[in-house]
Amino acid sequence: MAWQPAETRYDRMKYNRLGKSGLKLPAISLGLWHNFGGDTRHELKREICRTAFDLGITHFDLANNYGPPPGSAESAFGEILRTDFAGLRDEMVISSKAGYEMWKGPYGEWGGRKYMIASCDQSLKRTGLDYFDIFYSHRFDPETPLEETMLTLDHIVRSGRALYVGISSYNSKRTREAYKILKELKTPFVIHQPSYSMINRWIEEDGLVDTLEDLGLGSIVFSPLAQGMLTSKYLGGLPEGSRATQDKSLNKDFLNDKNVENIRALNRIAEKRGQTLAQMALAWVLRGGRITSALIGASKPSQVVDCVAAIETPEFTKAELDEIDKYAREADINLWAASAERKGPARKKKS
Ligand SMILES: NC(=O)c1ccc[n+]([C@@H]2O[C@H](COP(=O)([O-])OP(=O)(O)OC[C@H]3O[C@@H](n4cnc5c(N)ncnc54)[C@H](OP(=O)(O)O)[C@@H]3O)[C@@H](O)[C@H]2O)c1
Repeated sequence: MAWQPAETRYDRMKYNRLGKSGLKLPAISLGLWHNFGGDTRHELKREICRTAFDLGITHFDLANNYGPPPGSAESAFGEILRTDFAGLRDEMVISSKAGYEMWKGPYGEWGGRKYMIASCDQSLKRTGLDYFDIFYSHRFDPETPLEETMLTLDHIVRSGRALYVGISSYNSKRTREAYKILKELKTPFVIHQPSYSMINRWIEEDGLVDTLEDLGLGSIVFSPLAQGMLTSKYLGGLPEGSRATQDKSLNKDFLNDKNVENIRALNRIAEKRGQTLAQMALAWVLRGGRITSALIGASKPSQVVDCVAAIETPEFTKAELDEIDKYAREADINLWAASAERKGPARKKKS
């Protein structure tokens, strides 16, 4: 018999309004950056997606380049949409992005109109979708006029390829500039996707969180578990098959003695609160209601189950927040600068 989603799928998850828009996102969303490429069994990808949907995760985040090879995560998710998720499209918010290198030559990356529209069309084809719910500019392009990138996002909506648009990893100043252009065009710009976690706080320091609140935009924060470092998995060494043991995006040098000691201290705080470190890390980014959704990744269904329990978190006391600050700030990691997707904003030198 074909797989059927759980009747209870909407009983537990919290759905938060995305800024001042008409769209709600689950407090926990699932991203398909890793573990959805050609290097992962299709059956495992299906199990992760089914588990997520059964637990009320209605939002699945993609990008043109997710894999490996680039594009394969979109193809795999397209297959799951046609099989397990057939008939469920209207219960889901599916996003994709263009910005990073997708094909060779001068039209294969960044924020120009030619690249972005071709890439969006390719992404629609791979997923088999008629439209994305959200389409993003994946990174700010320092050479293409911002107006061109924003007009392209506007065109993507007006031509029926997406319902809403967003930007990812733009700083506060660029976000205000993008907002001004899109506001004039009346483009449904509703979301920003930056990185954020207890040990990566650039969006607080840059003023982006205040800017988003001021502009009425929602936010979905990526790598809230610092790619797995803010979980219990690395407390006793590097487990076989974990992201840090693969040559992907997590530099295992981050897991040095000093950092692991601080992560152990964070784990003790989580234990005292009666939750796992992953749950505390997710509850922390969502504290105070300023962030709409925490965008996790997962290599097995049990991780999704563990993460979703973060929505039943106890409130943080001032003493707990201070203690978290102490250890998290000591962990000497700048993930935003270090992540494989964070090689911008400098453009490659032209030869
Ligand atoms: N816009 C951008 O530029 C950008 C950049 C990066 C990511 N993203 C988006 O954000 C999504 C999430 O990023 P991310 O994968 O780095 O997020 P993350 O949630 O910080 O890290 C996910 C990894 O943490 C580990 N993990 C998750 N839950 C766990 C649990 N309960 N217990 C133990 N370990 C657990 C797994 O590592 P193992 O695989 O080692 O088991 C998993 O692959 C991506 O899929 C993508 O959609 C966007």
